[in-house]
Amino acid sequence: MSYRILMISTATFLSACCAADEPQLPLPEDTLAAIDLDQVKARLKQHKVSLNVSLTGPLVALGRQLFFDPILSEDNSVSCATCHRPANGFAAPDTVAIGIRKQKGTRNTPTILNRALGKSQFWDGRADSLEEQSLKPIANPLEMGSSVKAAVDRLKSSERYPVLFEAAFDSKNNVPTISETRLAQALAAFERTLLTPPSIVDRFQDGDYSSLTKEQRQGLWIFESRGKCWKCHSGDNYSDESFHNIGVSFAQANPDPGRSDVTGRESDLRRFRTPTLRQLTQTAPYMHDGSLKTLKDVVEFYNQGGSRGDSRLDPRIEPLGLSEAEVTQLVAFLKALSQQADSGKAAQEKAGLPTPGQ
Ligand code: HEC
Ligand code: HEC
Repeated sequence: MSYRILMISTATFLSACCAADEPQLPLPEDTLAAIDLDQVKARLKQHKVSLNVSLTGPLVALGRQLFFDPILSEDNSVSCATCHRPANGFAAPDTVAIGIRKQKGTRNTPTILNRALGKSQFWDGRADSLEEQSLKPIANPLEMGSSVKAAVDRLKSSERYPVLFEAAFDSKNNVPTISETRLAQALAAFERTLLTPPSIVDRFQDGDYSSLTKEQRQGLWIFESRGKCWKCHSGDNYSDESFHNIGVSFAQANPDPGRSDVTGRESDLRRFRTPTLRQLTQTAPYMHDGSLKTLKDVVEFYNQGGSRGDSRLDPRIEPLGLSEAEVTQLVAFLKALSQQADSGKAAQEKAGLPTPGQ
C-alpha cells in the first residue's frame, strides 16, 4: 500500500516539476576548520550569551555531521549546507531559497553566523530558539520536504548515526537514542559555534586606529550620524533583534506580510528582523526577498529613503542626501565589517573557529 502511494507521488512530481535529468544541487562539503569549544564558550560569554544548554565535543560533532548530510531531506538531495553554504558566509547566492526538487521558496536564505546571539530566529522571528528553528526546514515542503519523524527513522536505520547519538547523549533508561528533541539539540549545538571572527572594525573600536582606512572611517562616521544605520543595526552583532518595515516588501506585487503573520498585528505588516551586518561581502544578495544584489544597491536604497509611498514605513527611513563619494565611503565601511582583524591561515587556526575553507 505505502509502495503504491510512493509511486503515485513520484509520478505527480515528475509531471508537475522539472525535467528528471536536471542535475541535483551541488552539496557543499565540510571544509571547516576544527572547532575549539573553549574558545567558542569564551566568545559566547564575551557576548553575554548564557549557555544553559549542553555544548560538548561529541554533540557539536554530531550536529556538524547532520548539517552537511542530505539524509535529513526526503530524497537525500538537500542538506542544511545546500542553502547555508560555508563559502557564502552560511547564506546562499540565490535570490530566494532553492530546496528539494529545485523548488523555489519565498525568502532569501539569511546567514546563520552569530545566531547564538539572536533573540529569535527567521526573518519574521517565528522561532524562539535554535532548537525550535532547526526542525522547521526538514518539514518545510519547499526546503527538505520530509517529515521530522521520517527523518528520525532514516537516522535510526542508518549505519553511522546510532553510534554518534550514543556518544553525544548520556544514555538514560527509557530514553530513545535518536529522537526529534535530540536531533534539534545537536543541530542547535553546532550552530552555536558558528561565530564571526573579530573584524578590523572591532580592532579599531578596541583602540587600534590604524586598522581602518580614511575612507572606511568616514563610512563609519556616516553609519553613526547622518545614515542613522546604528539606530537599528546596533550592538555586537549589528542588530537590535527587533522588527522594522524599511520598505523592501512594499515594492513587490505581492507584499510579504513579514512579522504580522506571527503576531497577527496590523502594525507589524511588512516588518522584518534587522539582520546582522557581519560577513556581508559573502552573503549577497540582500534583504528578505534577495532583491538587492550589491552593497551599493543597498546604500542607494537607503539614500533614496526606502520605498517612498508606504504609509507604514519606519519613520527613521527617509532620504539621506548622501553624495556619491559618501555612498562609496559607507559601502567601504560595510565591507570592512567582513574583513578579519587577523587574516591568514595561521590566524584562522589560532582562532580555532570554523572559518570557511576554499
Ligand atoms: C532550501 C534552503 C534551506 C535549507 C535546506 C535550510 N534552510 Fe535554513 N533558512 C532558509 C531560509 C530561506 C531561511 C529564512 C526563512 C524565513 O525567515 O522565513 C532560513 C532560516 C534559517 C535560520 C534562521 C536564521 C535567522 O537569521 O533567523 C536558521 C538558524 C537556519 N535556517 C538553520 C537551518 C538548518 C539547521 C537547516 C537544516 C536542518 C536549514 N536551515 C536548512 C533556507 C534553508
Ligand atoms: C529602521 C531600522 C533600520 C535602519 C535605520 C537601517 N536598517 Fe538596514 N535593515 C533593517 C531591516 C529591518 C532590514 C531587513 C529588511 C528586509 O529584508 O525587509 C535591513 C537590511 C539591511 C541590509 C541587508 C542585510 C542582509 O543580509 O540582507 C544592509 C546591508 C543594511 N540593512 C544596511 C543598513 C545601512 C547601511 C543603514 C544606514 C544607511 C541601515 N541599514 C539603516 C533595519 C534598518
